[in-house]
Amino acid sequence: MRGIILSGGSATRLRPCTKITSKQLLPIYNRPMIYYPLNTLIKAGIKEILIIVAPERAGDYLNLLGSGKEFGVKFTYEIQDKPRGLAEAFIIGENFIDQENVTMILGDNIFEDDLKDEIMSFEKGGRIFAKEVPDPERFGVVDFDANGKAISIEEKPKQPKSNYCVTGLYIYDHRVVEVAKNIKPSDRGEIEITDVNNWFLQEGELDVKKIKGEWIDAGTFDSLLKAQNFAKDKMQEKMVI
Ligand code: DAU
Repeated sequence: MRGIILSGGSATRLRPCTKITSKQLLPIYNRPMIYYPLNTLIKAGIKEILIIVAPERAGDYLNLLGSGKEFGVKFTYEIQDKPRGLAEAFIIGENFIDQENVTMILGDNIFEDDLKDEIMSFEKGGRIFAKEVPDPERFGVVDFDANGKAISIEEKPKQPKSNYCVTGLYIYDHRVVEVAKNIKPSDRGEIEITDVNNWFLQEGELDVKKIKGEWIDAGTFDSLLKAQNFAKDKMQEKMVI
């Protein structure tokens, strides 16, 4: 299993805090934000991790994280020159993924759950994680049938079919590279991860698991504040880095 942390983007929603640094390097209580998704991958036993960053922040990431030796893993870095969408990570990461399975996590997502078993038991297809939220229209939304089987996934629907949103951790086999290459940009000009998920769903190969613990997308000032308190109260004993 290979790991990718997608940590690019321009984070205009968090200006002026992100004027001179990357959102994912902002502090969440006592650690830079990226330590939390990195912790999720390292605890799952992933040893080779690709970190995708925006060009103007590459030096900061290298200074902070280095080769990975300090964490007992190996980091590779790639640049995403423009935020063209989450699924572009798999195109940028083509050589890194090669014929392996891959877990991608967003650099601003904090998961309370230990996802080691779900990551390491993965064999083929796609596996994603859903969480019940009060504001599903802000996210990818997954709808389930009466048997709990996923039947649709929509990106930021105006009228969500459920309250389950798709969180920012995605596991796929190596076919994801070709799937991503064939996706046309959406109306917002992005290669959408939701289109990747729909491809695996239509093939009957998408496993959607519901997560139990807290999950925070720290992309707004309010969620950033929530993440700070959550990290202090609940995450300290879960950190291995
Ligand atoms: O957080 C989960 C949600 O993430 C999912 O429910 C949605 O289906 C998915 O589209 C995504 O939605 P967001 O609107 O939250 O994505 P956002 O554009 O905020 O990007 C998420 C993170 O990925 C953010 O920290 C910046 C980074 N990013 C984003 C894009 C579009 C990149 O590094 N490169 C990119 O091209």
